[in-house]
Amino acid sequence: MKRSDFPPDFTWGTATSAYQIEGAVAEDGRGLSIWDTFSHTPGKTHGGDTGDVACDHYHRYLEDIALMKELGVNAYRFSVAWPRVLPEGRGRVNEKGLAFYDRLVDALLAQGIAPWVTLYHWDLPQPLEDQGGWPVRETAYAFAEYADLLTRRLGDRVRHWITLNEPWCSAHLGYFTGVHAPGKQNLALAVQASHHLLLAHGLAVPIIRQNALGAQVGIALNLSPGHPASPQPADVAAARRFDGFQNRWYLDPLFGFGYPKDILALYDEVALQVREGDLAVIATPTDFLGVNYYSRAVVQEDSEEPYRFRYVRVGEERTAMDWEVYPEGLLELLVRLWREYRPGAIYITENGAAYLDCTSEDGEIRDSERVRYLQRHLAQCLVALREGVPLRGYFVWSLLDNFEWAEGYSKRFGLVHVDFATQRRRIKQSGRWWQGFLREVVRL
Ligand code: FCB
Repeated sequence: MKRSDFPPDFTWGTATSAYQIEGAVAEDGRGLSIWDTFSHTPGKTHGGDTGDVACDHYHRYLEDIALMKELGVNAYRFSVAWPRVLPEGRGRVNEKGLAFYDRLVDALLAQGIAPWVTLYHWDLPQPLEDQGGWPVRETAYAFAEYADLLTRRLGDRVRHWITLNEPWCSAHLGYFTGVHAPGKQNLALAVQASHHLLLAHGLAVPIIRQNALGAQVGIALNLSPGHPASPQPADVAAARRFDGFQNRWYLDPLFGFGYPKDILALYDEVALQVREGDLAVIATPTDFLGVNYYSRAVVQEDSEEPYRFRYVRVGEERTAMDWEVYPEGLLELLVRLWREYRPGAIYITENGAAYLDCTSEDGEIRDSERVRYLQRHLAQCLVALREGVPLRGYFVWSLLDNFEWAEGYSKRFGLVHVDFATQRRRIKQSGRWWQGFLREVVRL
């Protein structure tokens, strides 16, 4: 298998997000986000790590673009920090923040790298959280205003827009388990947040289209096949519930089928508020579906849990996140998405792995496990293409080692190693492999 086995116009990229790499949190008028507050709250992140400096990408973006050029990618997926451009979340515009993304986009285009902009990758402006955050309907309208501002400014140059990254994480991890910002633990808030996130997406789609004529618009979801731990009917039903909770809750309304009834039935006490017309807004057609894939889930019935399933740890091969390496799940997912939902196009907007990267005596970072992980997932992409799935591109998570949310700097996903003490970047073995693959020097 080689690059030219994929379609010639295939998108090959790397992905990052603002809070995970930018740093410069108090510079040029940036406001606070929920992740600033959360990471500065004792006990919330590994070792108390914060994104205050992160990869210092705000100052080093030219160096990082040069690295991408060296790797040979033709696209770069990054996110805009909402509080950098609208410090209070809505209203007053911070021109210096906008100017940074202007420079970033221009510098990418000058190197022949297509900018793919994610509008929201979890860093809600803190003032909006103070007014209730995603569980409050108004936040969806604030997002639409922010989308308008950004697409007016960058819509002449950016051809690919992703509204939200992984709304399941924003809603569920942010407002139910509380392991992500803002760290609330209330099921009703989480479910209502998920609805307002989807509404925000739907409100933004026509605005983006209007301001960025001819641009492609989509959303990035974290999707996983759910497998039962045993053939017992109770476990099979548990796997179906997992699928509803993780996948169908987002896919069904986005593709016009409304919220899945089996999951709605679990929310008896939640009193989800959906206004007339909301589902039509959410189902506004998009151009592509972004898929973030890392692993599958194996589950079994557990009546103590709110969704009556629990995760079962299986598989010998696991990453440093303790996620099972299961490339077949990507093919299963892609084929299923195509059969059941018929998206116009699919992009893998994230795929990658954290490992304990070893530095060898010659100073090279030998991350052969990451190379294997990427190769095996790409092999599944090729099978999906041969089966007729309209897969149009693939982004490695991530360009750089970065701030891995609650895990802080303890988990490294980069093709490029970052020494956080010196900010020195070094391309890992996986980055060299990726470069060779893209140049078609190496074969899988
Ligand atoms: C995804 C996130 C991304 C990164 C990877 C490892 O859920 O979108 O920011 O943390 O996981």
